[in-house]
Order: sequence, then C-alpha cells, then structure tokens
Amino acid sequence: MPIDPDFPSNHQVIGKHDHTDGQHFHFVWGPGRSSDAAASPDVKAAYSARNEELVPLGVHGTFVAVDWDSCIADGSCIQACPVNVFQWYRTENDVPAIDMSNTVSSGNGSAGKEDRVDYTDKSDPIREKDCIWCMACVTVCPTKAIKVEQSNMQFHEQATSTFQR
Ligand code: F3S
Ligand code: F3S
Ligand code: ZN
Repeated sequence: MPIDPDFPSNHQVIGKHDHTDGQHFHFVWGPGRSSDAAASPDVKAAYSARNEELVPLGVHGTFVAVDWDSCIADGSCIQACPVNVFQWYRTENDVPAIDMSNTVSSGNGSAGKEDRVDYTDKSDPIREKDCIWCMACVTVCPTKAIKVEQSNMQFHEQATSTFQR
C-alpha cells in the first residue's frame, strides 16, 4: 500500500538520522506497519537469506518521506533524483534496517538504481533538505512509497526543536 499521506499525524517521531556533515538530518516516524515489503517474494527471500526478521520500520524523512515498509528496493527513485537526495542505506551502513532509526551516516552510500546490496535494502533520503521538489521520485516509485510535501517542513521544524534522544 502507498505511504500514509497523514503519517505525521498517525505516526510519531521515533528517531533522528544524522549526517556527519552536521547540515543534513532527517527524522524517522514509527512504529510503521506491514505493507508491500512484507508481501514481496524478493524482499522476503532476502530477509530469510540473512536470517533477519522482517519487522515494521516506519518512514524515513518528513518532507521527502520514504515509507520503508512499502519500499521494495526498486531503485527508480534513487536514479531519478537530479540532486542526489537518496542513497541505498546498506551500501554505507550494512545493518538491520530497524537499527537505522537513530544513527549517523556520512552520506557516501551508492545512488545507482541497481546498487542495492540486496532486496532488504531501502532508499534513504539522506540529503532531504537538498530536494528541489521535482517530484520525479514520487512518480516513478512502483509502490507509491514516497511522499514529497513542502508543507510537512513544519513537522520537521517542530521535531527539530522538540526531539530528544
Ligand atoms: Fe529528488 Fe524527489 Fe526532491 S526526485 S528533487 S527528492 S522530489
Ligand atoms: Fe523503494 Fe520505491 Fe525507491 S520501492 S527504492 S522507494 S522507487
Ligand atoms: Zn534514514
């Protein structure tokens, strides 16, 4: 199913994903729910090959938001973005996705469509604030896992002043 368009109301901020450059960061909204990833044979097989549990993950990003429960690692969004907002998270931090809710990355992961480590990988909006609102990512995602909404910046700003680890 597509990302919940009202996720800032229906979910809570459960973490902050920082960039080592001190400029880029995004919030993570949870708790998430079972969606397309849990129904995808490729994703299920990749989780079993790793012996990792396929659990609800939630949404990374607020005004460029990727629902990691709907993301099936297609990669079209990563290829489509003209300003390199996204990266495959596992190409930098090869850990279970649930451990990415509160973490720090340096943004040096891969951004090629087929560069996923495997089908447990996810598109991470690591450079969220660089978005120029072209909407290409929203259009190309086969599961409609991405919502880009300028007015959601208010929720990002709110969380910036209130979120504490
Ligand atoms: Fe890139 Fe999507 Fe923004 S393609 S520019 S993150 S709307
Ligand atoms: Fe995932 Fe959709 Fe991008 S499935 S990798 S969010 S195109
Ligand atoms: Zn993230």
